[in-house]
Amino acid sequence: MAKTDKRRIFILDTTLRDGEQAPGCSMNLGEKIEVAKRLERLGVDVIEAGFPASSPGDLEAVKAVAATVKKSAVAALCRCIEKDIDAAREALAKAARPRIHVFIATSPLHMEHKLRMSKKQVLERAAASVEYAKKFCYDVEFSAEDAFRSDPGFVCKVFGAAIEAGALTVNFTDTVGYATPAEFGERIRYVKEHTAGMVQARLSVHCHNDLGLAVANSIAAIAAGADQVECTINGIGERAGNASLEELVMGLYVRRDYFSVETSIDTTHIYPVSRLVSQVTGMKLQPNKAIVGDNVFVHESGIHQHGVMANRETYEIMSPDSIGVPRVKHASPNRIVLGKHSGRHAFEERLKELGLAVDGEALEAIFAEFKNLADKKKTVSDRDIEALVMDSAVSVPETWKLEHWAVNTGSALGASGIIRLKHRDGRHKQHVCMGDGPIDSIFRAINHIVGREPELELYEIGAITGGSSSQGETMVRISLDGRRWNGRGLSTDVVESSIKAYLSAINAMEWHLHSE
Ligand code: KIV
Ligand code: ZN
Repeated sequence: MAKTDKRRIFILDTTLRDGEQAPGCSMNLGEKIEVAKRLERLGVDVIEAGFPASSPGDLEAVKAVAATVKKSAVAALCRCIEKDIDAAREALAKAARPRIHVFIATSPLHMEHKLRMSKKQVLERAAASVEYAKKFCYDVEFSAEDAFRSDPGFVCKVFGAAIEAGALTVNFTDTVGYATPAEFGERIRYVKEHTAGMVQARLSVHCHNDLGLAVANSIAAIAAGADQVECTINGIGERAGNASLEELVMGLYVRRDYFSVETSIDTTHIYPVSRLVSQVTGMKLQPNKAIVGDNVFVHESGIHQHGVMANRETYEIMSPDSIGVPRVKHASPNRIVLGKHSGRHAFEERLKELGLAVDGEALEAIFAEFKNLADKKKTVSDRDIEALVMDSAVSVPETWKLEHWAVNTGSALGASGIIRLKHRDGRHKQHVCMGDGPIDSIFRAINHIVGREPELELYEIGAITGGSSSQGETMVRISLDGRRWNGRGLSTDVVESSIKAYLSAINAMEWHLHSE
């Protein structure tokens, strides 16, 4: 977005923290780093990278993101507890622009039942924690959890104490997504007017989507004077999720005539980062999802098609280019672009056209995958290429590599599957299993070889493009001892895409368990 003299709204993205807390949305370290790089390219002001005191994995992830990201500030969340703040300080040691984000609940319900603390104790703890965090970090944010269901006067007092102790941002949350837009706007206006020292600090809002109002509430807060909004890509987050970054940012951008505010977001990176987050979390987007859903630029009825052909603006309030939908793709998502005789040059050209920046070793590997695919599929579409690139961006080291597989199945017999895997230390292992169908038999055989019995929580299969020669895309989620890993597999054969997806989740699990 071009710089103007419009009021600046700061964007804190919490996909890697609140987003990752959503059921089944956990990401591995490599995926988090990749998402963080894309968020930086997108231009978010702050990347909330995790909650370091919550687990060793979170601590490592925040460290890695802090060491990678240079332009955006990197925030670490902590309760108002010294050991949490110490963990955040350790995690952010290498950050170019660190932010410590402390929170404590201020609602009667939370103070009485969760914290068992009085108002006075909460007030003192908030101020003391900001003061403690401030010893290590200039940029401190303070959040009042469940602020919307709190006594507004009390929130103002706590915010005032936090600002006096050095908080540069105070964050008003609607933790349970209870607010409605007009009253949320009024509350923000009240807090702005009644908090001591508010002129020295930024007022932020953090809205959840339990009533489907997170974006509307955030926008009402901006209109009422909020300076920062907290959001996630695709709106992922606890329960019904958080305010969605793409909806918020595009709402402000498309209606800039009305809001007269600006953000630092380069909207042309929205679509690729949305696809990446969907892929690594296994959270598919509904086709009519605002801004990034598959149907957003598709016109079905004749009257609409006619209108768009005459002038796009008859039925489109934003262009696909403005959010980074690859140009060739919105012409026709299934357009056949390349085949097995296509050379590297044509392939690289197509990657450029699709806005997929890949070079060096990654390009070599993707080109080899493309050739394999073209051998099987004859013609390769833009969607196929996009899927190959996304897949390679976030793959984890392969503890187990697929060598061969075969299944035997039919209506009269049970199914049996045989699989041969290669361990990274060079060993080969093979096993045969019976099962309730080909997938079950093969997954059992893999479990036997790997020596673990994870639970299969999610198994979804779809097609990348139309037609019977389409690549099958399989998503799986496995869990073991309360932890979860996602995997994704692509192949023209659905059994093979299932095996690849299962093995990629197994490899994510092995990598995680070995790096603990
Ligand atoms: O929803 C919430 O209240 C939060 C805070 C910890 C910022 O996520
Ligand atoms: Zn939240």
